[in-house]
Amino acid sequence: MTSLIRDLTAAASAAFEAMGMEAHWGQVRRSDKPELADFQCNGAMGAAKSAGKNPREIGAAVADALKAYPMVLSAEAAGPGFINIRVSDAALSARATDILADAKAGAEPASDAHVTVIDFGGPNVAKPMHVGHLRSAVIGDTLQRLLRFLGDTVTSDTHLGDWGLQMGHLVTELYDEQPDLIYFDESFTGPYPDVPPVTIEDLGRLYPAASAKAKDDPARNQRSQNAVAELQAGRAGYRALLKHFIDVSVAALKVDYAFLNVSFDLWKGESDVDHLIPGLIEQFRKAGLAEESDGALIVHVARESDKKEMPPVMLLNSRGGTGYHTTDLATIEDRMAHMHPTPERMLYVVDQRQALHFEQVFRAAELVGLIDEGHLEHIGFGTVNGPDGKPFKTREGGVLRLADLNAMAFEEAERKLGAANLPEDMGPQERANVARLVAVAALRFADLQNTRTTNYVFDLDRFTSFEGKTGPYLMYAAVRIKSLLRRAQADGNGPGAIAVGHDAERALVLALDGFGAALLGAREKRMPHILCEHVFGLSQAFSAFYGALPIANEADPALRASRLALATAVLHQLEAGLRILGIDVPERM
Ligand code: ARG
Repeated sequence: MTSLIRDLTAAASAAFEAMGMEAHWGQVRRSDKPELADFQCNGAMGAAKSAGKNPREIGAAVADALKAYPMVLSAEAAGPGFINIRVSDAALSARATDILADAKAGAEPASDAHVTVIDFGGPNVAKPMHVGHLRSAVIGDTLQRLLRFLGDTVTSDTHLGDWGLQMGHLVTELYDEQPDLIYFDESFTGPYPDVPPVTIEDLGRLYPAASAKAKDDPARNQRSQNAVAELQAGRAGYRALLKHFIDVSVAALKVDYAFLNVSFDLWKGESDVDHLIPGLIEQFRKAGLAEESDGALIVHVARESDKKEMPPVMLLNSRGGTGYHTTDLATIEDRMAHMHPTPERMLYVVDQRQALHFEQVFRAAELVGLIDEGHLEHIGFGTVNGPDGKPFKTREGGVLRLADLNAMAFEEAERKLGAANLPEDMGPQERANVARLVAVAALRFADLQNTRTTNYVFDLDRFTSFEGKTGPYLMYAAVRIKSLLRRAQADGNGPGAIAVGHDAERALVLALDGFGAALLGAREKRMPHILCEHVFGLSQAFSAFYGALPIANEADPALRASRLALATAVLHQLEAGLRILGIDVPERM
């Protein structure tokens, strides 16, 4: 599927090339001044400069070349080399017809599809998530939907944190509560029971208890550290416990992620690559990259050109244990060796505050040759802040559990829906379903609409509002189109051939035409807000169209059918775009 922007760009590029200039000068974009033009091309000035020619002449020549295309209604060079372009009604009508019929609602697949791993979510077993984990889930899931939509082969991996001190806390605290459990009997040779000895509630209690004690009691902390060392050294009872802890956590996490429409292909964790670590360390040694330092084994990754301090990667700590660096390196090795097809890229959707960690890991991975340079990407994001401008905390001052966040959003959505006029025959189940969809739309859109790297303030009241630039607003916009089409259908009025003529119709099709470019831009920059902008702009163009022209009430049957078809195309694309953002639209609300 092509687009008007793309066709015009190709035409303008050909015109530049015909004059011996580079094709990229022909880039066409939507005009900033819709009253003057639909599209513009600003390349003539730069092209003329580098060719030592007159920009006005180049602009006029390109405009003349464009006029030869039937889709071009007018093309005028203005000022020192801007080209203003209007497209014909027929071209807009054809474009809208294509979008309506296209399974991808007018999107173009990426020309450079990749096999990509997206590592996101990253919850830690037993530790409650902080809002940063919410961002990772929402941004990561949107990227996986976006990349798949555009033809990439994507595998998502939640990469559980299941290898750190928290596992030692859990093991030792459980021992203090129930020392007789078979898992602590070192003479026992297995097999261990299949039924977990703990519930998710137990984990939620054991971890904070141990961590609080360890804070003021170095001996208590040491016990947890020893337990981690024993676990990492392969103590069978501890490994069996670890497996139970992971299973219990994952079951609970799946529920909470599912609420937000977030899913993963793989639920692997740091502990899954434990067996690869000796071989990995050997690789670093053989390559002459590993160095002993105060009993630890490190890899220098600093470069001459570094402006900031770049500490070494820690392969083994002085206790012989492994941490976050090593497990991330081993995971890269695991993915490259065992995934089919072999990944070409790995994206890590993780808090910007971990930028240094990823820079260190990426450099070490490239040095030892696990993957080609430039194919590991840290997709960082800013924090979610409270009204005080600091990372968001609960009223009690603690980190927020995803389950609690979901529940808060759900309640707020119910409150907002209670104030709205829902259809009278809506039963409790449908109502609850709509409330969930509103909550998800609210949380996801509020996050995704920001430039990924900036911070934003958590404000549930605003996020769940049906007015303004919010998820619920967009959802409601789509629901309204659905009901408009349903009512028309009931009156025997269906969509028909599209014939664009009125300004509001033209503007609407121009908005629709930008879908492909928005998707590709969002993919290239790994920036979901670009798609959010498109979807919001489309819904605004629809609302202008709806305000300016009768649709179902249009007296002329051909016009009425055309406008109903336009509305159908908008709904089609709006739903496709929202689905990529993880927002589903109910039939009614
Ligand atoms: N578990 C980590 C955290 O809570 C995030 C993991 C991110 N992914 C990775 N491959 N390091 O901070």
